[in-house]
Amino acid sequence: MAIAPQPSVDSTAEPSTIERVSRIYGLDNWGFGYFGVNESGHLSVTPHKIPGLAVDVYEAVRDQVRDQLSPPFLLRFPQILDERLASLHQAFATAIAEFDYGGRHIGAYPVKVNQRPEVLRRLVKSGQRYDYGLEVGSKAELVAALSMPLAEGSLITCNGLKDDLYLRLAMAAAKLGRRAVIVVEDLQDLHMTLKLAGAQGLLPPIGLRVKLGARGSGKWEDSCGEFAKFGMSTIALVRALDLIKESGAASQLTMLHFHIGSQVNDIRRAKQAFKEAARVYAKARKAGFDIAYLNVGGGLGVDYDGSRTASEFSMNYSVQEFANDIVYTLGEVCASEDVSAPTIVTGLRHRVPERGGRPRRRLRRLAHGQRVLDELLGAGIRQRHRLHAGRGLRQRGCVRAHHRYRARAGDGGLPLDAGH
Ligand SMILES: Cc1ncc(COP(=O)(O)O)c(C=O)c1O
Repeated sequence: MAIAPQPSVDSTAEPSTIERVSRIYGLDNWGFGYFGVNESGHLSVTPHKIPGLAVDVYEAVRDQVRDQLSPPFLLRFPQILDERLASLHQAFATAIAEFDYGGRHIGAYPVKVNQRPEVLRRLVKSGQRYDYGLEVGSKAELVAALSMPLAEGSLITCNGLKDDLYLRLAMAAAKLGRRAVIVVEDLQDLHMTLKLAGAQGLLPPIGLRVKLGARGSGKWEDSCGEFAKFGMSTIALVRALDLIKESGAASQLTMLHFHIGSQVNDIRRAKQAFKEAARVYAKARKAGFDIAYLNVGGGLGVDYDGSRTASEFSMNYSVQEFANDIVYTLGEVCASEDVSAPTIVTGLRHRVPERGGRPRRRLRRLAHGQRVLDELLGAGIRQRHRLHAGRGLRQRGCVRAHHRYRARAGDGGLPLDAGH
């Protein structure tokens, strides 16, 4: 987050003035209790939402300038990541308990949303207790994911365009103790995957990405429905299931994957999509496929304008309601179809940071990632497919501006990270 020095307000300012400052910057709309205006009229950040443990951003920036550093600065609050991740999983845990759902929930963070190594490392570290995994969409992202210390029960879901090297890498992930699910989007991908797996004598977990007839709602609703770019139609799905059976790979089909489009602003549309996804899952299970995971993708909105409505930039539901609707709908359909409830996989960007600007096309080159490639494929192949994951990325001036906060947090006995 690039922080511009805030306009200073007189320290004797009346509360009404502070409220006005808060309104002008729309802090209540996007701050989620992490960002606010303190009694001096300065932007303050409360990463753990513990009153009294707030960072005064204006003072933090002023300290840096006094130490001869020149702006712009990038301040990171990794504790917010931890908290957001925890509350997302809590929402699903609450829904699972409330509706007595027979499965569990795990997340897989879409790497394309924010490819910064420091963000990914932090997410992986704090997500270990929830078996939080990663969703990758390219070879470079897969190499980065393979080099991360993911928890044993977590998944790497491999989306995106497949080629020989991408598939070989995903299939070899098991050697590193990683569970990489190859999500195929069309019959051609499926043919290629089955052929390569057969040639290598491997049994990689396979997922099928399916288009839903139901559409999401809002800005991205066109990315769903029968004309969606990604995923296979119902007719193609039936052919794919036949092909998998004929190839003797039925036990490898572990996931069905849907994505209703990002930023769904109307919860009723989301419910329809979850119901349809659950029905497809139930029919596939009844056709003899022991599918363990139902990946419902993303869709959870962000209330950008703070209106809490079904406007394009908002959403008319809470995170808990979103989790409730997924869990309840899936549970209900599975009970009525008499099939066991799948592990719910979500790939939500909402709770964790996305980059403000254009998504990075490249990842930072990871030395460990190159070692992973060598180990899995041999140096010869690596030479032919050099994966320059983000060479040339520059990290702007990044300061540990919240050292004061950390010192105070330490005094208070809170766990500290060797963070950024
Ligand atoms: C397959 C898949 N999963 C998850 C996401 C993230 O969804 P959201 O932006 O709604 O959190 C996307 C976004 O494009 C996606 O394509």
